[in-house]
Amino acid sequence: MAKKLKIGLFGFGCVGQGLHYVLNNSTGFKADIIKIAVKDKTKERSVSKDLITFDKYEILNNPEIDVIVELIDDAEEAFNIVSEALKKGKHVVTANKKMLAIHLEELYALQQKYNVSLLYEASAGGSIPIIRTLEEYFDNEELEKVSGIFNGTTNYILTKTINEKLSYPVALKQAQEKGFAESDPTNDVEGFDPKFKAVIIALHAFGLIIKPDEVLNLGITTLHENDIKYASEKGYKIKLTPVIQRLDGDKVGVLVTPRFVKDTNQLFNVENEFNGVIVEGKFSGEQFLQGRGAGSYPTGAAVLSDISALSHGYKYEYKKHVQKHASDFTNDVIITAYFRYNSNADLEKIKFEEISEKYNSGDYNYVVGKVNLENIIKNRDYILTNSLFISLVNDKISLNIKNIQSIKKENQLATT
Ligand SMILES: NC(=O)c1ccc[n+]([C@@H]2O[C@H](COP(=O)([O-])OP(=O)(O)OC[C@H]3O[C@@H](n4cnc5c(N)ncnc54)[C@H](OP(=O)(O)O)[C@@H]3O)[C@@H](O)[C@H]2O)c1
Repeated sequence: MAKKLKIGLFGFGCVGQGLHYVLNNSTGFKADIIKIAVKDKTKERSVSKDLITFDKYEILNNPEIDVIVELIDDAEEAFNIVSEALKKGKHVVTANKKMLAIHLEELYALQQKYNVSLLYEASAGGSIPIIRTLEEYFDNEELEKVSGIFNGTTNYILTKTINEKLSYPVALKQAQEKGFAESDPTNDVEGFDPKFKAVIIALHAFGLIIKPDEVLNLGITTLHENDIKYASEKGYKIKLTPVIQRLDGDKVGVLVTPRFVKDTNQLFNVENEFNGVIVEGKFSGEQFLQGRGAGSYPTGAAVLSDISALSHGYKYEYKKHVQKHASDFTNDVIITAYFRYNSNADLEKIKFEEISEKYNSGDYNYVVGKVNLENIIKNRDYILTNSLFISLVNDKISLNIKNIQSIKKENQLATT
């Protein structure tokens, strides 16, 4: 019979309380939370005072505790807690995507050095079991692409602004009232949160360890009603989607931008706070997973699933990283994009390589065409401060032709 684990929990907010509830209302798997560390000494708690501590070392130095569960909302302190726990030989479960994405390399190394397990299913896609699916089911198959909707707050706002014609501030306020968006929604609406998730997924899908700073994130803050009208007239919905895609020459491109999505795409009907992930395998084709990407119980359930996996000795093997199947990351990719701009100076800055559609009127100008992602990255701040809007028109990204030529040249040299 699996060992009954003793848990030390950090954080008793939305997810921490969700885990407590789910654990106490699950049949079958049993574990005990023996201590909970929190921060605010004045807050009323729904659990016995004896369980609460304000001193992290009451958990970290307790030899009785087998598993540390880290569910706080401060990424730097979370890293301190998690790395200290791993160094002490404790297994850890966390949901903290920001902390993971920023420190993936160090956390990977700590797991190897101290032979401990760090699990984080809840960090990407909430209750959608994407990481273990990539890690276990797709451990051998080469993947072509992973894309999806990884942020419930922005998907809720987009659903309300597009389907119900609510204004952006009203939709954002509703998302905050329903508890999907935080009071400072920057991480969500500017696309940082889905970028952190994309960075985590890139490791399990393609063996890549990349820094979040290397990846473009454009959010939905500059979306204008003209963009919504354009998309609707063409039969598209607008979704904020990370795309992690294999390109020619074993390179991988990663980006987070709004995207026009057709009704033939599974993501078209992923609405409100729901998340969806499409995994495309070289041989298996397309698989689609949909579920609740956030919330107290769904996220608590994902954390509990990791704790249960730990009780059976489970550890990520990071096969794609270890086997040196690992691909290289590049931003030298061409995307097909819609670009709403104000002046010719904007267009000159972004430098489209090919334009297939162009419209100019006094107050609404756009082009659709092919553009190098690096030009967009260089001008990200310019795009945001001038309220310009960029959306992928399809999710096909391709390696820049110059890059392909240099890879071919390298291959020729290697074989002569
Ligand atoms: N909410 C979701 O649906 C969701 C989904 C997926 C992943 N996540 C991730 O899960 C984590 C927790 O999110 P949440 O929504 O549960 O946050 P939350 O509701 O804001 O709760 C945060 C908790 O962390 C505690 N805390 C903060 N700093 C601490 C410190 N230095 N030491 C000990 N405790 C500390 C707070 O203590 P006090 O109670 O004393 O204030 C509070 O209990 C975050 O990394 C988040 O990104 C959340």
